[in-house]
Amino acid sequence: MTIKFEIIDKDIAARIGKITCGHKTITTPALLPVINPHIPLITPAEMQQMGIEALITNAYIISKSSEYRELAQKDGLHKMLDFDGVIMTDSGSFQLSVYGEVEISNAETLSFQQSIKSDIIVPLDIPTHPDTEREVTEKELNITMERLREAQMIVDHENHTLAAPVQGGVYTDLRERVAHTVSKMGFAFCPIGAVVPLMEAYRYRELVDVVMAAKRGLSPSICVHLFGAGHPVMFALAAAMGCDLFDSAAYALYAKEGRYMTTHGSHKIDELKYLPCACEVCRTHTAVELREDPKRDQLLARHNLLVTLAELDRIRQAILDGTLWELVDERCRSHPQLLNGYRQLLSYAPELAKSDRRTKRRFFYRGAESTKRTEVLQYHTMVEHLSLGKTVLITLENRPPHQEYDTILYFKPPFGPYIPYLAETFPIGQSEIPEWDEDMVRSGCRGIVSLVNTHPNSKITVLSRERWRSIIMEMVATCKGDVSYEFV
Ligand code: GUN
Ligand code: ZN
Repeated sequence: MTIKFEIIDKDIAARIGKITCGHKTITTPALLPVINPHIPLITPAEMQQMGIEALITNAYIISKSSEYRELAQKDGLHKMLDFDGVIMTDSGSFQLSVYGEVEISNAETLSFQQSIKSDIIVPLDIPTHPDTEREVTEKELNITMERLREAQMIVDHENHTLAAPVQGGVYTDLRERVAHTVSKMGFAFCPIGAVVPLMEAYRYRELVDVVMAAKRGLSPSICVHLFGAGHPVMFALAAAMGCDLFDSAAYALYAKEGRYMTTHGSHKIDELKYLPCACEVCRTHTAVELREDPKRDQLLARHNLLVTLAELDRIRQAILDGTLWELVDERCRSHPQLLNGYRQLLSYAPELAKSDRRTKRRFFYRGAESTKRTEVLQYHTMVEHLSLGKTVLITLENRPPHQEYDTILYFKPPFGPYIPYLAETFPIGQSEIPEWDEDMVRSGCRGIVSLVNTHPNSKITVLSRERWRSIIMEMVATCKGDVSYEFV
């Protein structure tokens, strides 16, 4: 059966969703841990107890294994792995991207994935490396699309969901175009592919461009999977762009290398004296005990996975509350390249603002980046529709004016002018700001500019203290309308 995807809550482009696959469900955003049956640091049954609803395994590795191939075909993957949640299988494309060649055809992997009763199957897409020139990228993309069409014909849609990987390298027009094509082809589940080299090289700015381009082409009802994203430090950023699922072997690969994950980055366990985590492993071991334990890898894998699961719950709660921008802001301060990614995402705020929700639990100002948030842009659009009298005062000072005006507006940066009756509504009433700084006042002045430009019949006066004179003059100079100033 093809999965059903129901969106329950939204923030920025992130969604809390419910995937239904037969009688099984997955709450998104979610991580599908990668299971390598040869090296189970945590068994699928243990994962199920930890609340994991879906996992991913590699059909190519199973098909090449004398130990597992027949077992999987006889009993099915769910029995073999002892996991009755959703199981997704990957085709071997990742091996293709690493080793250059695989001994399997598209038709063969599809039929094998069906024979082992995978819930979500992936065709043999070509993960084009981001440094590939455009001509080659296009050629490979055409092959991927050809295989996708072939897959759509072959696959038994009654019993399996066929994933449609979106490739296209770093060429955003290609990403958007194929995303649009797979939407029209009726796919419900789309992974965004070949992003691992971008993430490994901390190329988060390009990652944002690639994902935003793909998302622009994908219908909002499609469940979006970010292939190979497994470090919790970047989940908030990816979720904010509208990625619903992640998969990764990172929790296990890192553990084998003695690396300890946190939501701010990773540490070598040998270099830690203290364990900054509340999970069961960290509360029952000291750092020394953990690194000397014969089961170190298993314990680290468990910690890494628990950290990841906690972050996903934190993201879900942030989506519910409408505070995801603040979590993205916090996480993306962990590495300068993530900050680049965050700033790049903010550059898409005008397009994100159109679909972002209108009311949230709160808005906390966290510095200059906050002035670029969707809520601020939405506010600047909203003021265009305020109805004003002929004479209007916008006062940055909290005291009554000397003169009479038809309309008096107060001012709250980074939003801008507001009518007193909006004082209790979002975002004016629910925003907490520190002492005014230049960035937020400049942003608030953009609200004044929107207001002035859209109310040519009102004569508008801005009242402010001297302190803000230069910013107000600089900003309001760009207005088309008639504004006067009074500085006290
Ligand atoms: N795993 C990580 N990236 C990819 C990708 O682009 N395609 C497939 N099939 N698997 C992946
Ligand atoms: Zn821990």
